[in-house]
Amino acid sequence: AELQIPEHIQETQNITREELEMILHTQNPLVTEELRRRAQQTAKAIYGNKIYVRGLIEFTNYCKNNCYYCGIRCSNTDADRYRLSLEQILSCCETGWNLGFRTFVLQGGEDPHFTDEHICQIVRTIKEIYPDCAVTLSIGEKSEESYQAYFNAGADRYLLRHETADEDHYKKLHPEQMSLVFRKNCLKNLKKIGYQTGCGFMVGSPGQTVDTLYRDLLFIKELKPEMIGIGPFIPHKDTPFAKESPGTLEQTLRLLSIIRLIHPHALLPATTALGTIDPKGREKGILAGANVVMPNLSPVNVRDKYTLYDNKICTGDEAAECKACMAARMKSIGYEVVTDRGDYKA
Ligand code: SAM
Ligand code: FES
Repeated sequence: AELQIPEHIQETQNITREELEMILHTQNPLVTEELRRRAQQTAKAIYGNKIYVRGLIEFTNYCKNNCYYCGIRCSNTDADRYRLSLEQILSCCETGWNLGFRTFVLQGGEDPHFTDEHICQIVRTIKEIYPDCAVTLSIGEKSEESYQAYFNAGADRYLLRHETADEDHYKKLHPEQMSLVFRKNCLKNLKKIGYQTGCGFMVGSPGQTVDTLYRDLLFIKELKPEMIGIGPFIPHKDTPFAKESPGTLEQTLRLLSIIRLIHPHALLPATTALGTIDPKGREKGILAGANVVMPNLSPVNVRDKYTLYDNKICTGDEAAECKACMAARMKSIGYEVVTDRGDYKA
């Protein structure tokens, strides 16, 4: 009977709370293998063996927020703060363009130094120089007007993980100034404006349960995001969660597969965090249904300063090495990294 479950999820694109619990807790390798096989098949039916690459540019590690899990939270006085100039960002894009990247992801803490005008100027300039590229922003919670302004300046996509769709769990992860209602509203606004929108969560964050995860899945079904970022929670030594356990490879892979099955067209990255908890984590993520990788394009001299969690990989590698390494990794499992904007396929 257990073996029926992945098939049933693939057919109905739905999962019950009980099925979720069974899949997350099963010790039966036949079930997890079947889940993985079906998720991989589903991803291949839509995206083939092509893996989309995003050049990640971490342009500021200043942040006004104080999320309990995050290494660049404002009260971490040990974080060595930096900001990239427009020229530095453009230089990352130039390197990336020459390496075949056609999506640039500008990610940062919520840094008030970068006003809406700044952000619009950065986006506009990148799109002027590289009209055929996609620009993704990942700069946190903003007003609808700000999101609209960035969109008008040419931004194509926006990543804002919801972190958890459970109110009580959200309060355990964030100080009281932040609210799940506000964050969900940001995501609705992003969708309404016309962004390819990404939500997502960490696997194994403190206080996460089968029930909170089930809510995450219900939220995904409701929002219908184009992208879903999930990776393991990894503790950072200078945060309130320093002593918490990290999320596991196995649970992250199971959730990637489940998400591929219930929301088949999603752009689903095998994250750096997944590569950090296991040397073959990103390859395993692709084989479990992911179809995107996001190598780092940030200048090497700031890489180790954007530390959201401990032991982050690739901090010493030039963009070219990372790109080549990624291409080789994907090839080793029968996939191909492509030079493509990598838009959502409806
Ligand atoms: N400030 C923007 C925002 O909040 O969306 C973008 C940057 S934020 C650092 C990007 C993501 O990093 C968060 O959504 C969170 O899920 C992830 N993250 C933060 N701390 C982490 C940790 N300790 N382990 C794994 N992922 C973490
Ligand atoms: Fe960065 Fe392998 S992906 S060095």
